[in-house]
Amino acid sequence: MTDDEALRLRLAERLVAGGHLRTAPWRAAVETVPRHEFLRDGFFEPVEGSAPTAWRPVLPDDPRWLERCYDDDSLVTQIAGTVAPRDVRGEITRTPTSSRTMPSLVVRMLEDLSVEDGNRVQEIGSGYSTGLLCHRLGEDRVTSVEVDREVSAATGVALGACGFFPELVVGDGLAGHEETAPYDRTVATCGVIDLPYAWVRQTRPGGIILATLCGWLYSSELARLTVGEDGTARGRFLGGQISFMLARPQLPPPLGMLPDLDSGHERPARLATDVLDDWNTRFVAQLAAPRAQCISLDRDGRTEHVLLDVDTGAWAALHEDSGQWLVRQGGPARLWDDVEEQVTRWREAGAPGLEEFEVCVTREGQTITWPQAGHSIW
Ligand SMILES: C[S@@+](CC[C@H](N)C(=O)[O-])C[C@H]1O[C@@H](n2cnc3c(N)ncnc32)[C@H](O)[C@@H]1O
Repeated sequence: MTDDEALRLRLAERLVAGGHLRTAPWRAAVETVPRHEFLRDGFFEPVEGSAPTAWRPVLPDDPRWLERCYDDDSLVTQIAGTVAPRDVRGEITRTPTSSRTMPSLVVRMLEDLSVEDGNRVQEIGSGYSTGLLCHRLGEDRVTSVEVDREVSAATGVALGACGFFPELVVGDGLAGHEETAPYDRTVATCGVIDLPYAWVRQTRPGGIILATLCGWLYSSELARLTVGEDGTARGRFLGGQISFMLARPQLPPPLGMLPDLDSGHERPARLATDVLDDWNTRFVAQLAAPRAQCISLDRDGRTEHVLLDVDTGAWAALHEDSGQWLVRQGGPARLWDDVEEQVTRWREAGAPGLEEFEVCVTREGQTITWPQAGHSIW
């Protein structure tokens, strides 16, 4: 047995023990598909103790490389939209833009997708997961759409080394890939704010869509929806506080010039910004303001927490004064009023867990509701 075969068997055992890998066909895929082929160009690892995080390349000639490829870790493969591991000698301090997802999350999602023999699958975001899908279903049943040309090309080389030649498409996965539709399953390995209706249209009735719904307050959850005969998709969140890099067209825009934060009406806040510390509460707050970004500023010797929707210009600035939270708001909407109202209604309904929420996607858009109380549309 080669070193990498032994590492794959060990990884599979760990994923079974962790409850992520639950069925024999996916176990066989993990035991067979060489993840290291998808990391031939190396990866970046975080430099311990750096803040903001600095990244150091690990290339295949590093003695730790092969073993690290089979750790249950997400491995960053691109930084700042273009920078690959071989481009860096030393360290780089910019934001990661592509990674090979951690195996436990990949297999958990594939298991949650409830794939059956003969299914045709559309995947958004190409990589190791594409290899597992090809092993499970056969390359001619897999279409994978990747927005980044370099990532798609590297994935194509890796898949070729595994003997797989599925339909790889370079493009914006938010539009899906009409040409090889309909699919029995659609799975997204990047996060989305709104689940695109194109995925519903391209998935046959009875088919399943799996995607992580997120917002710019960065609370997110994995949703599984079933497509109905009426052309809508309905489902639930599955839990686990899953987060993914956002789909590129839905990344937050630059903040630009800040509004005049001294203007606007000031009032005592009913809720302080610590509501954003809890994952579920933040998710609910985000339903009220999915396109608001949150920043903290030091102004006049105090910390201000600012929610800002760059597209509309709406903003809310909160600070604490002698134990009392105050909020000032400006622009065309009252962002913090909306957050307070949404979180209060959810709490009055008993603060149901995200697994109890319902997600519905129609031609008109996406609705997220929770039991007993009103609903939110985002
Ligand atoms: C976390 S990675 C997952 C990759 C892969 N599924 C794996 O197993 O490692 C997310 C991928 O989604 C891609 N992506 C982001 N936005 C996209 C979009 N709009 N359409 C298609 N791919 C997108 C990124 O370039 C990145 O390669």
